[in-house]
Amino acid sequence: MDSDQRTRRQFCQACSAAGVAALGGVLTTLQGCGGSGPTSPGGGVSAQALPRISGGVSGAAILVTIDAASPLAATGSAAIVTSSAGNVLVAHTGADSFVALTATCTHENCTITGFSGQSYVCPCHGSQFDTSGRVLNGPAQRSLRQYQTQLADGVLTITA
Ligand code: FES
Repeated sequence: MDSDQRTRRQFCQACSAAGVAALGGVLTTLQGCGGSGPTSPGGGVSAQALPRISGGVSGAAILVTIDAASPLAATGSAAIVTSSAGNVLVAHTGADSFVALTATCTHENCTITGFSGQSYVCPCHGSQFDTSGRVLNGPAQRSLRQYQTQLADGVLTITA
């Protein structure tokens, strides 16, 4: 065997060993990925834009009509009510119960406009709040202020 042949054989052995190692790496990678199911990268949450409702103002109260066509008709729904007295997040939490919160984020005052289906999501830095206003995820540290609500004759009255 001349030196050329020996060099080629050594090279091919090295290739073969590298190939096995690479294949082992692929298998390890596949095994590492298998069976874990879908995950949510970074713990992020996907949010939809809240439906917007124009509210009326009477004195210090914001008035919202809740009829069958309202985005707030169904239990579990949520919307942002805009009015000249401010923006309010409203969740329909039970048969005749609603929870109203300020829509101003306690982090840096952005208007909260997203809803994940269970929590409000601020578009600026991703803070999340439950429908009672408690912080689920920062950077916000403080809860959203809650307002009083009263439903009468299909009109929800929201007062500070
Ligand atoms: S202003 Fe809402 S998360 Fe920063």
